[in-house]
Amino acid sequence: MDRTQVVLPAGAVRRQEEFTQRLAALYHQRDRQPLAMVDTYGCQQNVADSQRLMGMLRDMGCGFTQDPNAADVIVINTCAIRENAEKKVFGVVGQLVHAKEKNPDLIICLCGCMAQQEVVADKIKNSYRHVDLVFGPQALWKFPELLYGVYTEKKRVFSIENEHGSIAEGLPVVRESGVKAWVSIMYGCNNFCSYCIVPYVRGRERSREPADVLAEVRGLVEEGYKEITLLGQNVNSYGKDLDSPMDFADLLREIDKIPGDYLIRFMTSHPKDAGQKLFETMAACPHVAHQLHLPVQSGSSRVLKAMNRGYTREQYLEKVRMARAAMPDVVLTSDIIIGFPGETEEEAMETVSLIEEVRYDALFTFIYSPRPGTPAAKLPDPVSRAEKQVWFDKLLDSQNRISGELHHAYVGRTVRVLVDGESGDPVWPLSSRTHGGRLVHLKGDTSLVGQYIDVKVTGSNTWALFGEVQR
Ligand code: SAH
Ligand code: SF4
Ligand code: F3S
Repeated sequence: MDRTQVVLPAGAVRRQEEFTQRLAALYHQRDRQPLAMVDTYGCQQNVADSQRLMGMLRDMGCGFTQDPNAADVIVINTCAIRENAEKKVFGVVGQLVHAKEKNPDLIICLCGCMAQQEVVADKIKNSYRHVDLVFGPQALWKFPELLYGVYTEKKRVFSIENEHGSIAEGLPVVRESGVKAWVSIMYGCNNFCSYCIVPYVRGRERSREPADVLAEVRGLVEEGYKEITLLGQNVNSYGKDLDSPMDFADLLREIDKIPGDYLIRFMTSHPKDAGQKLFETMAACPHVAHQLHLPVQSGSSRVLKAMNRGYTREQYLEKVRMARAAMPDVVLTSDIIIGFPGETEEEAMETVSLIEEVRYDALFTFIYSPRPGTPAAKLPDPVSRAEKQVWFDKLLDSQNRISGELHHAYVGRTVRVLVDGESGDPVWPLSSRTHGGRLVHLKGDTSLVGQYIDVKVTGSNTWALFGEVQR
């Protein structure tokens, strides 16, 4: 696909601003400011998308609420990664029928990865008739036009054409805190891991122009943001589709040149494309955190092949060695799937032995969930859920012990953290993160939020550290 067709012409995005203005005029006729509720499920990509939707809603003149009964517009931004995620959303959407009965003018929108699936859109069309607007992630930039259509045509709108996907620059945004920000550097996924729905709902891989990414990061640093996380399903594929050659490591180097007191994190990094150049660049760039989320999924080479991951256990372990050689203090985390169709107990235990060998700082662990339409969903899956749960618990036991040990080793040390918010806990009122991304509950004054400070680690558990401000 031609690059010029991937990046939307500025005129197309500006046209959406016209719809935003028309909606603002419509809302202005009401006797009070309309309220929007945005409810977000899934990964950081969805969080970033919701911040764009909130930007559009703000520009339409909306305020925000968390109360469905107070809202005039509700947007549910959904995730399709596992069946449970979908069930939860159907539960939430089902409940909204009551809010709609109380307020027939309420507009309910369903967007995100679930919405991009035809089966879901059909189910909403037929069984959830109180939902007014359904659109997939690839149509997000057109939200003002779609919403305007709902109001003016007085009918339900479905926009889920499965397109290649485009890039819209210059969309408005509402960021939650003044400390941390998300920056998408690419969209979509081309990897087609055999269990995964993402490539079907997010379209093909497409990278933002380096100049656009750099301008956004520079702007955030100038505004005082202290921690910027670059987002993509596989950031290591960044740049493959650009006209001028540039890879992810090159992009990191360019970003790192932006002056200021800030840290760059990124996710997710697919092991098959991570290598020496990336690790050396991370080590050489003072703004880049020594934190690597490198999802392994399985410790069995046979299962990895069936998952279409593109690396073996040995190749993965070699990359971990390379990363640690370049950055001895690197904080490593991973995603694991237990119970892939046909996985044996022995293979699941290979995953446990891999995590014992790597000693990750933390893991995100999942039991396999079949996603209709993916190749893995067609494979025989003879192992019972109960048996998978036993393997899963063994994995968790190992990881909890390892995380506990690694966290305990911090106690007594002084570490530099970014204070990123208030916790609401009177004993540990602040939350903060080490450069490697570990959570530190902190005693100290709330005026410290947004600052880098040295703290003494005084305690730890499986999930976090506890510390006090150094004087
Ligand atoms: N792009 C990222 C992953 C995004 S999805 C990567 O490749 O690393 C986040 C995690 O959800 C995946 O890493 C995987 O561990 C898990 N996951 C994806 N599909 C799943 C499924 N069908 N069942 C269970 N877990 C799944
Ligand atoms: Fe899914 Fe694999 Fe793409 Fe990650 S890389 S989003 S697991 S298909
Ligand atoms: Fe879920 Fe879509 Fe993210 S399926 S994990 S919200 S890319």
